[in-house]
Amino acid sequence: DKANYRHFMAKEIHEQPEVVGHTLARYVDMASERVMLPVKLPFDFKDIQRISITACGTASYAGYVAKYWFERFARVPVEVDVASEFRYREAPLRKGDLAIFISQSGETADTLAALRYAKAEGVHTVSVVNVPTSTIARESETVLQTLAGPEIGVASTKAFTCQLMVLALLAVAAGKARGELSEEDEAKLVHGLVEIPRLMAAALTSEPQIEKLARDISKSKDVLYLGRGTSYPLALEGALKLKEISYIHAEGYAAGELKHGPIALIDENMPVVVIAPFDRVFEKTVSNMQEVAARGGNIILMTDAKGAAEATIESLVTIVLPDMAAAFTPMVYAVPVQLLAYHTAVVMGTDVDQPRNLAKSVTVE
Ligand code: F6R
Repeated sequence: DKANYRHFMAKEIHEQPEVVGHTLARYVDMASERVMLPVKLPFDFKDIQRISITACGTASYAGYVAKYWFERFARVPVEVDVASEFRYREAPLRKGDLAIFISQSGETADTLAALRYAKAEGVHTVSVVNVPTSTIARESETVLQTLAGPEIGVASTKAFTCQLMVLALLAVAAGKARGELSEEDEAKLVHGLVEIPRLMAAALTSEPQIEKLARDISKSKDVLYLGRGTSYPLALEGALKLKEISYIHAEGYAAGELKHGPIALIDENMPVVVIAPFDRVFEKTVSNMQEVAARGGNIILMTDAKGAAEATIESLVTIVLPDMAAAFTPMVYAVPVQLLAYHTAVVMGTDVDQPRNLAKSVTVE
């Protein structure tokens, strides 16, 4: 049931600190702050030359974030594909390499077909799924379950952040196994992940401010989301979330791509949501933001206290999120991104939990 919430989506957004915490507890030895997968992997990460990640929609954005983590922590190249492209492209795979499939339902037709293709090519298959009895879970060599619990709202929220948690821990495990991370590095990263549920709870306190902002957003016809690094796939996720439940057109872009086209769209009628924690690419994103401001664009900046102090631009609304380890910001920044879409849809009066034309589980291609 919806507890005291108006919609399942609101309930599921608010459940995130708890279910992400459960998921974390399943994969970490809390005492030593080390990754401890609940299943034994039938391969050694040292032998993996390339990882391919395949999923659809929101799950594919979790995969895109994970690409940054695997490449950074484990120095292993990662390719991310949407399942419908992967399966028909017949991507060449090397026997013994690893393919990861991400799916909340575990029944998405294209993702399942991609899994079957990968198995036939002789690669190891790991699926990150929320429904352990699903077809994708059954047919994968290894299953890493997300403990999000049943997700009823059609727009994925808590499944996404739980997927990110599992993928972050798997990337740390890969880095350790490949000798790219020391025990000390591992402990530091795991410590950062242990903090995430608390930080997500802190991010939820931005809700009243976001509720007000949603009234302005609801008057717009188009919204642009920008981010760099791991905030780039989150920008894609923000745009998807907004369009699917509020029916407002939105696009996510890598901030650096702004001047290669989308800047032509900027005027006072198109809000620009900039996702920019104070990390090593922050300055670059700020300069993109200045380009938006110079063209009269209204900016909503999601950042932390340091970022807010550095970004001195007029016509800026700032949503200040907690200070945290730079590597894992997407789980925390997902919260305001989801809330903005949710409250905009509520203002628009759409059917938030059952948006038109959409199904929770896409079992046909
Ligand atoms: C967006 C959304 C969809 C799903 C996609 C994959 O909010 O819910 O984009 O993420 O259909 O579904 P699963 O994860 O069940 O394979």
